[in-house]
Amino acid sequence: MRWSPPGGSPRAPLWYHDRVLVLIAIPGSEACARDLGARLGARVIEPEIRQFPDGELYVRVDPRGGGIDVELGSDVAIVGNLSGDSFLRVAFLAGTVRDLGARRVGLVAPYLAYMRQDSRFRPGEGVTARYFARLVSSTVDWLVTVDPHLRRIDSLAGVYTIPTTVARAAPAIARWIAAEVDQPVLVGPDAESVQWVSAVAERCGAPFLILEKTRLGNRDVSISAPDGAWNGHTPVVIDDIVSTGRTMIEATRQLRAAGSAPPMCVAIHAVFADALHDALLDAGARGIVTCDTIPHVTNRICVAEPLADAVRERMG
Ligand code: R5P
Repeated sequence: MRWSPPGGSPRAPLWYHDRVLVLIAIPGSEACARDLGARLGARVIEPEIRQFPDGELYVRVDPRGGGIDVELGSDVAIVGNLSGDSFLRVAFLAGTVRDLGARRVGLVAPYLAYMRQDSRFRPGEGVTARYFARLVSSTVDWLVTVDPHLRRIDSLAGVYTIPTTVARAAPAIARWIAAEVDQPVLVGPDAESVQWVSAVAERCGAPFLILEKTRLGNRDVSISAPDGAWNGHTPVVIDDIVSTGRTMIEATRQLRAAGSAPPMCVAIHAVFADALHDALLDAGARGIVTCDTIPHVTNRICVAEPLADAVRERMG
């Protein structure tokens, strides 16, 4: 940040030679915000967020927090994911920093929540991916995320009306696989995974195959894997999200039944709605690793650099 106070008057506004980016860390995302801040040369504010006795949210952004002047027309990026009640935190933080004078307010959500209910599967269901996108678009000026779950919606522009930039995890995943797995054969557990699996395969020069999955319920999937000559290859199952883990567990089970070596499982977003580590090992997996879009003990693959590049792109 480069600035100089004009005229020596303590009341006069400071004069910026550059646009200034300030990051606001949603609780739980401090490490991600600090890492991004270091890469972008941006300062990080940790806001005060707590509950009033009645459970409503109290939000305060100290305008001088860490010597940072949010009120002087800086660009602000709120950093954190939007699961649980986090959307309300983002909405209140965005309102607060706009009141303090922020010029533009963006959102860096490494995992973009609410993308999977992208259609009305049963009469009367809400298409929450669309409603959520509308809410976020009316709250912040731009959005950066990592590999959103796009299936029946072609691109974020189909639902988000604000500018968006998508950071890709494929190069980092490809590097991890090249370093850690001998003779990998990449496996997508279902048709939509082809977008992530093919991108990784192209970068690490590995063959890939896509399985067929039928989802029978939230915690019930059926997957078919072809019998194959594995020729010493190790399967690496790649999916965008691991939530209940049923997809990874069933893919692993079917690959083992088809005669493969213990598969390595790689997911971009470690949602982990259920504890599944033991079940995955019992099914015959070698292990599971994830990218660090959601903090979790399985995080091994860092996507901070593509995320920082995406923010740079939004900052123009
Ligand atoms: C499917 O829509 C996604 O790409 C993932 O396969 C799915 O979200 C994984 O969910 P779970 O871990 O609950 O099987």
